[in-house]
Amino acid sequence: MDSKTHILDILKHADQVVSGETLSAELGISRVAIWKHIRNLIQAGVPIVSSPKGYRLENDPDSLHSSGFGARQALIHYLHETTSTMDDAAELARRGCPAFSVVVAERQTRGRGRMQRVWLSQDGGLYFTVVVRPEIPVVQAGMANLAAAVDLADVLRTDYRIDAGLKWPNDILVDNRKLCGILSQMQAEGEQVGYVTVGIGLNVNNSPETGESNAVSMQSLVGGPVPRRKILEAFLDRFEKRMAAFDPQVVMAQWKALNVTLGQTVMVLTIKEKIEGIAEDVDALGGLMVRQTDGTLKTVMVGDCFHNRKG
Ligand code: BTN
Repeated sequence: MDSKTHILDILKHADQVVSGETLSAELGISRVAIWKHIRNLIQAGVPIVSSPKGYRLENDPDSLHSSGFGARQALIHYLHETTSTMDDAAELARRGCPAFSVVVAERQTRGRGRMQRVWLSQDGGLYFTVVVRPEIPVVQAGMANLAAAVDLADVLRTDYRIDAGLKWPNDILVDNRKLCGILSQMQAEGEQVGYVTVGIGLNVNNSPETGESNAVSMQSLVGGPVPRRKILEAFLDRFEKRMAAFDPQVVMAQWKALNVTLGQTVMVLTIKEKIEGIAEDVDALGGLMVRQTDGTLKTVMVGDCFHNRKG
């Protein structure tokens, strides 16, 4: 990477002012050379603020540092690298963090998906977990998951004109290619939900297509890089409002309006079995109701769903 890109990369990932001395040591060039690169970057319109203490990138809409989140700043826990934001968020939740605390990371070394799958977390994607504390019975906990999918799909559709659809239980697809996965984990207190950690992996400025032919990113859909902080803020605006006035029936109606699973021939794999048939409906708790070939109706609460699959 050239020196300017290297400097920008360091400033992007720093949570505070970076001194000229630090940059000079990192790049192995003189402080005067650093200053010349910074001056060229500023002249090119990059919002770098220079002070006696050093340099800081201001208001980069792609930056996920807490400092860019305004009134939400105290709730945002930014990590350059972590194992999985699910673990960090669960730890915060156990220690009593406020609802809507968010752990967001540039990279995950052990990102995980549903059904014990690995979630590859290439640079440029948006990987975060939100802690919610809905006052709902345990049986309705899955609805928080569906609510997150509805709200994120709304951001994609309204703000980015992306034709996002929801595959049961909560993948976001565009033209049958996966743009986003959502994983949520719940901790119960008796019959009530204690907290839910909702983890979202959204392909934004990464290129998942290279590894998985049925995956897609926002940058390839809109034809250029998309600033990640704007997406996260737009999602949190909707999701906070939604959870403050949580209504499972509204969530379900909105989920159904956006779904691309119902009416399809599906194969659903659960830990124990394989269910095949037509996806007929989703019940009030989010279970998928599959009309099997022998005419019986089977409801699946947890599983992996594949569309247009027979036999
Ligand atoms: C899936 O489609 O199987 C769900 C993928 C969820 C991935 C996100 S990325 C942020 C959070 N941290 C994780 O380790 N997983 C979730």
